Amino acid sequence: MTTAALEIVNLSKSFGGIRAISDISLTVPAGSLTAVIGPNGAGKTTLFNLVTNLYAADQGDVKFYGESILGLGSGEIAARGLIRTFQTARIFPGLTALENALAGAHLHVRRAPWQQMLWLPGALREERTLAAKADALLELVGLAPFRDMAATDLPMGGQKLLEVVRALMAGPRLLLLDEPAAGLNDAETADLAELLRAVRDSGITVIVVEHNMSLVMGVADQVIVLDAGKGVAAGSPREIQKDKRVIAAYVGEES
Ligand SMILES: Nc1ncnc2c1ncn2[C@@H]1O[C@H](COP(=O)(O)OP(=O)(O)OP(=O)(O)O)[C@@H](O)[C@H]1O
Ligand SMILES: [Mg+2]
Repeated sequence: MTTAALEIVNLSKSFGGIRAISDISLTVPAGSLTAVIGPNGAGKTTLFNLVTNLYAADQGDVKFYGESILGLGSGEIAARGLIRTFQTARIFPGLTALENALAGAHLHVRRAPWQQMLWLPGALREERTLAAKADALLELVGLAPFRDMAATDLPMGGQKLLEVVRALMAGPRLLLLDEPAAGLNDAETADLAELLRAVRDSGITVIVVEHNMSLVMGVADQVIVLDAGKGVAAGSPREIQKDKRVIAAYVGEES
């Protein structure tokens, strides 16, 4: 039996008269890379906002490795290893690219602040390990040349990639990425695809909301399709590409 990293059970959320998420249930197996796709306004970001408790659900449950996380604070959820990025990159201004990356890890550094200030040997070792990890990740996504630049001076695509790096530095067990390829050029998208595969292969479960179909079809093990707050299909990329309900959801958007 495969372990579920995330189980969403009959989840619903309305905003006024809009049923943004309408009785959605889904399972994300541990170690998988799941893509969530759907037209604008389908409820993809809202789903992430419910899972991370940015918004309270009207009904239903969210289980992370079998335990309900509904109602937990965002800090507690992150501390358990459920880490997300945002559709619009949220970079820390005034910090370099490297410092932004390291900020993700400092969420988890166990040492007391006074130990870090005194640079005790353990803390120093830990910092060096973290910096090496951050450098390796920046290199992997092509951001090494921007390492010591103010992060806000990075092009938009670079800021989005940096946010993914920062999320990885937090040591996630489950990583939620909201449109990480938005604003990326083709080369950056290819770097992102490589990174996502490497992340999944390292054992981290990934859920990615994405409009870039070639990225989705190239990296996802499982694709879940939302339309108007409802789950309309789930399957392998190959199955989803042929699914009439999926085609209808997208054609409906255009007309
Ligand atoms: N805070 C909010 N207040 C009111 N309505 C909201 C709020 N957040 C989302 N909605 C509505 O819920 C629906 C789903 O929005 P959501 O942002 O989840 O869509 P999405 O699938 O992420 O779309 P996109 O692809 O454009 O990012 C939309 O009708 C949206 O207007
Ligand atoms: Mg969205």
